[in-house]
Amino acid sequence: MPSTCNVVVLISGSGSNLQALIDDIQTGDNPARISAVISNRADAYGLERARAAGIPAFSLDHRQFADREAFDAALIELIDQNSPDLLVLAGFMRILTSGFVRHYQGRLLNIHPSLLPKYKGLHTHQRALEAGDGEHGCSVHFVTEELDGGPLVLQSVLLVNADDTPASLAERVHVQEHVIYPLAVRWFAQGRLHLGTQGVMLDDQPLPASGHQIRT
Ligand code: GRF
Repeated sequence: MPSTCNVVVLISGSGSNLQALIDDIQTGDNPARISAVISNRADAYGLERARAAGIPAFSLDHRQFADREAFDAALIELIDQNSPDLLVLAGFMRILTSGFVRHYQGRLLNIHPSLLPKYKGLHTHQRALEAGDGEHGCSVHFVTEELDGGPLVLQSVLLVNADDTPASLAERVHVQEHVIYPLAVRWFAQGRLHLGTQGVMLDDQPLPASGHQIRT
């Protein structure tokens, strides 16, 4: 890994995870550098966050393309103009094609608001409450062709309170997302984290299937 790690971030919305990453990089010991932020929605607030931090921000509207393949091909072209070492999905609400995922294999991270492999997809907080789970949280994982199914890097586990609602859980999980995503990116940028043939490696040791877990 070169002394800095060139990162491109994909978003669709508010970009609070992007902001957490920007803030962490500004603290100094994170060698990641965000060279571009790309959104499939021109009105994503995260684009404003990027511009406010002096980061080039682009939008590429998926509705302008005939199909998923055509959109992903254009997205790859735009991303690769920045030659990223790492591609970070931070609330990017599009399902990516297999070709896209393979192109970035081993350098593509996502964050998901559940303790994967539980609750892939949407409405994770409501589903955790409906199941009566005592614990909930969020996960950072390498992206593979299976939606929300790639090898886990980091999880933050929190206890569900008796009076939690989907909204209160979402809020507490979001706070944890802003802790674990910058940490995972920092590990990758420092050359400590990679996806090997044996799974996720941190400091040359394989991580357990649940990834590294933090409990709050
Ligand atoms: C987060 O909940 C993340 O887990 C999910 O999308 C949301 C993005 O939130 N993948 P934000 O745009 O970073 O605030």
